[in-house]
Amino acid sequence: MSIPIILDCDPGHDDAIALVMAHRSPDIDLVGVTTVCGNAPIEATTRNALRVMDFIGAEEVPIARGCYRPLARPLRLGTADGPSGLDGTPDLPDSDRAVEPQHAVDALATWLREAPEPITLVPTGPLTNIGLLFLKHPDVKPKIKEIVLMGGVFYRRSEYFTPTEFNIFCDPEAAAIVVDSGVPTTMVGLDVTMQVLVEEPQFEALREIDTPLGRVVLDWLAFYEKLHRGTMGVGGALHDPLALAAVLDPSLIETRPAHVAVDLRGTVTFGATVADFWGERELPDNVRIATSVDADRFFALLYKLLRD
Ligand code: BDR
Ligand code: CA
Repeated sequence: MSIPIILDCDPGHDDAIALVMAHRSPDIDLVGVTTVCGNAPIEATTRNALRVMDFIGAEEVPIARGCYRPLARPLRLGTADGPSGLDGTPDLPDSDRAVEPQHAVDALATWLREAPEPITLVPTGPLTNIGLLFLKHPDVKPKIKEIVLMGGVFYRRSEYFTPTEFNIFCDPEAAAIVVDSGVPTTMVGLDVTMQVLVEEPQFEALREIDTPLGRVVLDWLAFYEKLHRGTMGVGGALHDPLALAAVLDPSLIETRPAHVAVDLRGTVTFGATVADFWGERELPDNVRIATSVDADRFFALLYKLLRD
């Protein structure tokens, strides 16, 4: 039986690879895709979602366009993917299909209400659509099996020279709504996603997958890796694909429960995800945090999905 999911994304090279993996996995039923601003403005992330999905033959999957700015702050765009959100791509043709008539927040509610069984949400961008979903349609919460999101940084904050992770930093108010939503949530953050890096051995393995899709993914990653190496000194981190992979195979990551709060006021730390691992504030655990990852098994899954 396949796992029904909705992917809420801001493609973005790594979001695009998560879309590819979700659609190609026989164990996933991709019910719909929603877009949000983040790596690029909403027009660009929606255009990218449409053309990626067309390219991989996923025309049957509905795509709904979401929020154009965060809930309470001006939009700060990501810088990891170039202005188009998918720079360095060989020209994937534009799609001529239309997005869903409903806004993503309402489409999410419709898809959830109509689903025969609870759906897993996989947000791989800022949490604006999901936060707004909980404000506007709280009745759909029981129809969400769980949320497995890419976001946050806990243990290795200083190592990455960042108090925050981009998806949470971009819309901390939405992130705060999500972690306090009461819906079972797993945060796959930089602590683990910075361990699934595309470097020379991974490029070599990808080069062997000599298919049209394999070559496009390779082109995406060549651009993405160069930008990453320039800013962070390491290869391209497959943040969003890891969140998706953790739905397919939860044993790829280890997690621990904690109470997490999102800093909304800090002058330089707003968007920081603060975990109370030892229960000192006597608050109930509200999320599970990914603490380690089996990177080799993750890459084996990626190659398999691209190859088969
Ligand atoms: C997250 O931010 C974006 O740049 C990526 O797509 C990923 O979702 C990593 O911090
Ligand atoms: Ca993303």
